Amino acid sequence: MAEIAIVADAEAAGELAAQQIARVVASRPDAVLGLATGSTPLSTWAALKGRGLDLTGVRGFALDEYVGLPDGHPESYRAVITREVVEPLGLTPSLVHVPGDDGGPLDGAGERYEAAIAAVGGVDLQILGIGRTGHIGFNEPGSSLTSRTRIKTLTEQTRADNARFFDSPDQVPRHCLTQGLGTILDARQLVLLAFGEGKAAAVAAAVEGPLSASMPGSVIQLHPRVLVIVDEAAGSQLRHADYYRFAWDNRLPFEV
Ligand code: GLP
Repeated sequence: MAEIAIVADAEAAGELAAQQIARVVASRPDAVLGLATGSTPLSTWAALKGRGLDLTGVRGFALDEYVGLPDGHPESYRAVITREVVEPLGLTPSLVHVPGDDGGPLDGAGERYEAAIAAVGGVDLQILGIGRTGHIGFNEPGSSLTSRTRIKTLTEQTRADNARFFDSPDQVPRHCLTQGLGTILDARQLVLLAFGEGKAAAVAAAVEGPLSASMPGSVIQLHPRVLVIVDEAAGSQLRHADYYRFAWDNRLPFEV
């Protein structure tokens, strides 16, 4: 089962996620981190910055990227990762990768990204958010549970949710490149964060619902090492919340 931490707010969640990252980097200064975008990981990056760690040796692989934005667009995930992660945390730019940013053609970009991840020995810790459709990365409902990095078409719900980052909703691309659910499962540890009432249904379905391609987040149930960190609102539909709190409060020193 996943470990479920129900915490007070995004700030507390960020501290906990940053602690996990710090532990990995302490044991391996050139650790491979899986990087998420969106609003959710921002408190994690802030907490990590507060720790003042040397992250210059860390390798990074973003989960996903839009397809069709002009080069250098400020909302491309390449630009977001540079602005929100690489620069503030002092990562080495050449060690941080985003799907499709290797200068090659779009055709085959997924396979090349998979090869790049494999070449560094895989992802040590993958940070994940979850969309209201239940997507992780940009794996929308219907994504194969064993999928690899590939082009996907975004749902209109996801485009509407992400319109807040753009000047107008029609500027949100229809396509993306995303690590597959099988790619994400290959990471050695997953840390999934979610905040707010709007994520409550997706969190409950991912953690407790049936394993289903219709709820891509449910694939985390197949992973042996997952930490789910939610605030009270995002955890409000968890049926077994009392047990998760009990288990978390009574975790043994070597757990999590
Ligand atoms: C976005 C990203 C995901 C992210 C999710 C939630 O579209 N592709 O990687 O986890 O949807 O976004 P947010 O954290 O902004 O709620």
